[in-house]
Amino acid sequence: MNSFFFAGKFSALRRYNFLAMPNQLAIETLSIADWVKGLAAISERDFTLENVQDYIVRHAVRPETLDNYIFYSKGNYTRNLIFKNDLFECMTICWEIGQHSRIHNHRDQNCWMSAPIGRLKIQNFRVEEKDASCGTCKIVPTEIYEMDGAHPVRVNPLEPVHQVLNLPEFKQRAVSIHVYSKPFDSCEVYTRERGTYGDVPLHYTSEYGKLHPDEKLL
Ligand SMILES: [Fe+2]
Repeated sequence: MNSFFFAGKFSALRRYNFLAMPNQLAIETLSIADWVKGLAAISERDFTLENVQDYIVRHAVRPETLDNYIFYSKGNYTRNLIFKNDLFECMTICWEIGQHSRIHNHRDQNCWMSAPIGRLKIQNFRVEEKDASCGTCKIVPTEIYEMDGAHPVRVNPLEPVHQVLNLPEFKQRAVSIHVYSKPFDSCEVYTRERGTYGDVPLHYTSEYGKLHPDEKLL
């Protein structure tokens, strides 16, 4: 990591309160089962942006315990449900080299993520114009930052439109863990070149370690 990126990253952290993992923090490393158990033990009242952020910063996931939730497909990244209740859902997203999400938001829900395997680039966007009557919008790229096992992040509620990319130059697959509260089953996807946006339904590639019967991994 060069110093320019380092400086840029931390200026972004200051402005948007993205998570950084302070080196002096004692980190407990847990299996994914225990990690989720710990999350589920947080009451609804305490399931705030800050409290969950604090939990994710202080508890890392042992990558080898994620095996049941790792499915790669050359066709698209995969979404693999680990746990879901009324308050939150937790899933892995598995990224082949070069795969990326569309530009999207999270339906005004809170989102925290980390990447126990590989690394990912997050590109944020500011929505400058949005016209619901004709589905048009103008978005402009803003902050760029990186996420890996040591640097979890949360989506900034004030600027929630973003894209996640496993850049070809990273030269490795990635697995990220996402916590969404509350769960949602669609998101708003933005097409920057066309200046349009619209709803897209979401589905799971696998649930609780079992591949969806209709799923054909490429
Ligand atoms: Fe997202």
